[in-house]
Amino acid sequence: MTDAEQSAPYAAGSAGPGAPASQSGPRRVRIPHLQQIKDSGGHFAMLTAYDQYTAAIFDEAGIEVLLVGDSAANNVMGHATTLPITLDEMLVFARSVTAGASRALVVCDLPFGSYEVSPAQAVESSIRLLKEGLVHAVKMEGGAHYAPHVRALAAAGIPVMAHVGFTPQSEHALGGYRVQGRGDARRAVLDDAAALAEAGAFCVLMEMVPADVAAEVDAAVAVPTIGIGAGNATTGQVLVWQDMAGLRSGKQPRFVKQFADVRSVLATAARTYADEVRSGAFPGPEHSF
Ligand code: KIV
Repeated sequence: MTDAEQSAPYAAGSAGPGAPASQSGPRRVRIPHLQQIKDSGGHFAMLTAYDQYTAAIFDEAGIEVLLVGDSAANNVMGHATTLPITLDEMLVFARSVTAGASRALVVCDLPFGSYEVSPAQAVESSIRLLKEGLVHAVKMEGGAHYAPHVRALAAAGIPVMAHVGFTPQSEHALGGYRVQGRGDARRAVLDDAAALAEAGAFCVLMEMVPADVAAEVDAAVAVPTIGIGAGNATTGQVLVWQDMAGLRSGKQPRFVKQFADVRSVLATAARTYADEVRSGAFPGPEHSF
């Protein structure tokens, strides 16, 4: 295999070290591929996923990174915030996503309460996510204060994505969903990103920060950056899949673009199914034994 083939994220070939010799298929996206994308001035896409079907669909569609977000709390479990979801619940979603994803890098959120107490707590929780959830990396919310946690994770061989700017787990402390990094607060976002990258984060995600601040962070740190509501200068973008595909009803945040109307497709399918059951058209002879 040539050097180019070895480093190309999408070339067909072995599933990676440790894969059975007979196993073939798309190569796994790995952290160095994301770094190559940044270094070559490109962009990559990340979507949340919480189950095997959406994971497989997004994986086959070429989404480079799947995020098992703690946003499963709102988007799957029906909670008002991300705070109630537990590590054990995240593990169920993580296993479901890793079962469906054969190519994407799978990153899982450390949920609220699973890392804040100490770097050791962050390492213990992350070990469970990699060992039981089979994910490839973890994501942790918070600023420079968490640099020791990132350092401990990196030392344990656990790749960690930092999440700065608006951090939903701190929504009560931050006074609700608010853009971070405006005016005097610009310095704090820049310092957080720099401290976490320096501590060993392989990527810095920025949520709801002004586009020019995100661009400055992307230029300042060597690692790839990901944005959600952070303009288009970041290396990657992420959206919650239900927002991206139009499953959720109601007002969307400004940073969301809806790329499909899956809610209407499902509603039409359900209505048509119910009509056919009521009229006796389904099941027809072709569906009967
Ligand atoms: O949990 C999540 O969906 C996230 C994204 C908003 C980045 O953290």
